[in-house]
Amino acid sequence: MDFGKFHSQLELPFAETENEFLGDIFNTLELEFGLKYASNQKLIDLGAGNGNMVIFAALNYCIKAFGIELNLNLIKEARSRIKLLKKEGNYKKRVLKKAKFKRRDFFTYNLEEYDYIYIYSLPSMHKYLKHVVRTAKKGAIIITHRHKLENFNSILEIEYILTHKRDKQEFFTFFYKKIS
Ligand SMILES: C[S@@+](CC[C@H](N)C(=O)[O-])C[C@H]1O[C@@H](n2cnc3c(N)ncnc32)[C@H](O)[C@@H]1O
Repeated sequence: MDFGKFHSQLELPFAETENEFLGDIFNTLELEFGLKYASNQKLIDLGAGNGNMVIFAALNYCIKAFGIELNLNLIKEARSRIKLLKKEGNYKKRVLKKAKFKRRDFFTYNLEEYDYIYIYSLPSMHKYLKHVVRTAKKGAIIITHRHKLENFNSILEIEYILTHKRDKQEFFTFFYKKIS
């Protein structure tokens, strides 16, 4: 057993980005950060869970969307969702092919090819992600859901904070640009 990976999943359990917030997150990417339908832009979700974010990107924006995830069961669930969508026949195959999932550890992943990097993690994990964020190209947009990144000032600039409201509670999504 790889105890490093096991520990990592205990530190960061699965919780999905709420469907009701996804539309606003992508609208913001489109309006503020140049996301274009059917472009060559690439998105990655670090710790993709059951694929919510990645599948949304592929279906609604037709861009290459990758999810890396440690938990094999969640990867299987994400792939089954794609299979089901194929069966239902409401989306073209070439659109569904845009969503891909791999079993990888985000602590050892290189981000240089991605334009949009999504992270729904915990502040306790963020500090261990700095070396990973460093591999992103200059100008890449890093999006963190619910929790802001602390002490990334030398490499990231905060560009936008999106407020979501639910049951009189407020939740935030943070948008950063890689500056060096
Ligand atoms: C809070 S969930 C977010 C799920 C998804 N991104 C979403 O927004 O719906 C975090 C995910 O990260 C995964 N995870 C934890 N450590 C990981 C690691 N080192 N590499 C890849 N995935 C990891 C967990 O299994 C979990 O599914």
